[in-house]
Amino acid sequence: MFIHFGLYSLPAKGEWVKMTERKDMKEEKYQEYFDNFNPDLFDAKEWAKTAKASGMKYAVLTAKHHEGFCLWDSKFTDYKITNTAFRRDIVKEFCEAFRAEGIRVGLYYSLIDWHHPDFTIDARHPRMPPGCRPADPSGTVGGEETWKRINAGKDMDRYRRYMKDQVGELLTNYGRIDIVWFDFTYPNDGGHGKTAEDWDSEGLLKYARSLQPWIIVDNRLGLTDTADGWDFVTPEQFKVEKWPTVNGERVPWETCQTLSGSWGYARDEMTWKTTENVLATLIHSVSKGGNMILNVGPTGRGRFDSRATSHLGEIGEWMKLNSRAIYGCTEAPEQFKAPENTILTYNPATRRLYIHLLAYPGGRLACPFAEDVAYAQFLHDASEITLERHGTAAEQTQEFYKSGNEGVSYFLLPAVKPDVLIPVIEVMRK
Ligand code: GLC
Repeated sequence: MFIHFGLYSLPAKGEWVKMTERKDMKEEKYQEYFDNFNPDLFDAKEWAKTAKASGMKYAVLTAKHHEGFCLWDSKFTDYKITNTAFRRDIVKEFCEAFRAEGIRVGLYYSLIDWHHPDFTIDARHPRMPPGCRPADPSGTVGGEETWKRINAGKDMDRYRRYMKDQVGELLTNYGRIDIVWFDFTYPNDGGHGKTAEDWDSEGLLKYARSLQPWIIVDNRLGLTDTADGWDFVTPEQFKVEKWPTVNGERVPWETCQTLSGSWGYARDEMTWKTTENVLATLIHSVSKGGNMILNVGPTGRGRFDSRATSHLGEIGEWMKLNSRAIYGCTEAPEQFKAPENTILTYNPATRRLYIHLLAYPGGRLACPFAEDVAYAQFLHDASEITLERHGTAAEQTQEFYKSGNEGVSYFLLPAVKPDVLIPVIEVMRK
């Protein structure tokens, strides 16, 4: 579970709102969200229980997002939750509650900071100069002179120090942290982006690992080409076409996905994915050897929105019956070709193959690997699925019956789709 929570939950238009509505979002306006931040219904235990019930194994909370607001009691800034009416340290409560549920904890830390006075204004900053378009600064009025002027006196050295101090706090004061999710590097903005050097990514990473040697780190520090500069890659909102590679080698990966079209709470955002669609992305990711981290954007009162809760409930229902086809699973061995409209996952330890029926085929499913099948059942209820093997006595013998089906073996399925969003056939191999 990914959790995007911050001041942006109040304007309720997503976590980039300070940028996307920058013309109206002057600093004074954004300050109103700090002044009114008070998530009175926040209950870390409830979040953790919901995460657990929906099948989550780890969770990553935005300790600081691009807006710069800190959800913990940082010594290095006043722009923090303990200075709002709410006063409590959410990072602390999050870590404790999720750990208590047996969920691994991770912290997201934004490299970008639209509040810190030393963070230089760039082409993706709400205070970018007139004429500059995000990621295309070429139209900036007054050109490089303007950039120099707006960044006069800003000292990225101080900002780098600040990041290190804060990462130090997060990785020292909250017990074991399993993941740190740095976000993100954007060097290609005509000299007005940020590079690994701007963050001192190597130093930051080294420091993080020195504090928590077991920690795993995403690849958004801009060090994807550096050996040891990351632990997993992060295709965002992607159903990848194949197992991601770096320098030709398959690598650990995680796709981050939203439920709706936004990470931070967006009240009026209506493009919610269906639960089936989300599950298909999860299954698909596992089938290419990856993980999925699914996002929730709590409301300004600190609760999961009802739409998120209902999706997570459905996902939990499915996971309760089908998680065996997800946990510990990966891409199926090459000899298994997926039947039409299905995705295969595979558990190498148990040697079980899982056929996820995305579109229910009705009475039969052609099985291209019958010789490998010892026994098959629906995963959700352990009801046997008979395999009608081609060339055996059990196979119907009339000539007309075979037309077009010569040589094919079939799983015999109920005509009506069982009451599970995506039914799964579990295959025990010979
Ligand atoms: C992007 C966005 C950010 C979001 C993140 C999640 O980098 O800037 O808002 O937190 O993706 O992957």
